Amino acid sequence: MTTSPSEHWQTDARQTIDQALRQCLDQVPPSRLRDAMHYSIAAGGKCLRPMLCLATCGMFHQPQETALVPACAIELLHTYSLIHDDLPAMDNDDLRRGKPSCHKAFDDATAILAGDALQALAFELLSTDGDFTDKQRLIMLRTLAQAAGPSGMVAGQMQDILAEGKTLNIAELTEIHRLKTGRLIQASLLLGLQAAGITEGGTLAKMEQLGALVGLAFQVQDDILDVIGDTDQLGKQKGADAALNKSTFPALLGLKESQRYVLQLHQQAQTRLDDFGKEAFPLRSLVDIAIHRTF
Ligand code: IPE
Ligand code: IPE
Ligand code: MG
Ligand code: MG
Ligand code: MG
Repeated sequence: MTTSPSEHWQTDARQTIDQALRQCLDQVPPSRLRDAMHYSIAAGGKCLRPMLCLATCGMFHQPQETALVPACAIELLHTYSLIHDDLPAMDNDDLRRGKPSCHKAFDDATAILAGDALQALAFELLSTDGDFTDKQRLIMLRTLAQAAGPSGMVAGQMQDILAEGKTLNIAELTEIHRLKTGRLIQASLLLGLQAAGITEGGTLAKMEQLGALVGLAFQVQDDILDVIGDTDQLGKQKGADAALNKSTFPALLGLKESQRYVLQLHQQAQTRLDDFGKEAFPLRSLVDIAIHRTF
């Protein structure tokens, strides 16, 4: 079987990211805390966010490794969000990335602290490593903090929890998805762009819009996979949303209509990449994965 250029790109990027993440965790003093952080990072997620970050940087005529530090920072932060999302007080999920969730493999307190530590490590890494100007560094730190914090992912997680057992309208659900998932995916693109030295202007606005589309589509597909996916392939329990009475796109729109909506968002996202020519091929293929994925 021949490997396509985009598959080849993804394999290489994945290896580079895995190695950098390992090096990053090697700096943590050996302890139960490091074991738990390492357990969740090494469990093997798709690494979509760091790949989006590298692919975006490469699209602007910079070596994509320029963005390796923010790429790792976003994966550390995303992994923290998953550990906390699975806790009994949140979604109470026992399976993550095909393995027992962090709090199952360790315990609740260790999982909470491992999440806290991964989040802090993400900001430490971004504030010290890589070859960036002070201005670039500050902008990237702010991008990550705003995407992660009380106006971003955490705000979305709060609204998601408050909405359990309630029926939202589409606008309310879209807002939750935009925040809890969309903001970190959008930040992945923005960090790649900022690492390439583009910190303002029309291109930033374009990538913001593209990131928002991909982020929303990614979470609608996540809702769909919770209904039609396979637990083994997903590496997380199928049917978890219905068990918690979550509002989801399939619950509000039906499965077929949700699938049509994902395709529509995908089309809009791909159209936005037309301006960027052939340099955009890795990002195009990642946008395809985000939306057509089965896990
Ligand atoms: C899962 O994200 C959480 C959501 C935002 C839906 P991913 O599907 O990217 O999880 P990993 O990183 O591959 O495990
Ligand atoms: C979680 O959304 C988004 C996060 C901020 C982690 P979900 O709760 O739907 O993610 P999964 O399905 O557990 O991965
Ligand atoms: Mg959740
Ligand atoms: Mg969950
Ligand atoms: Mg989900």
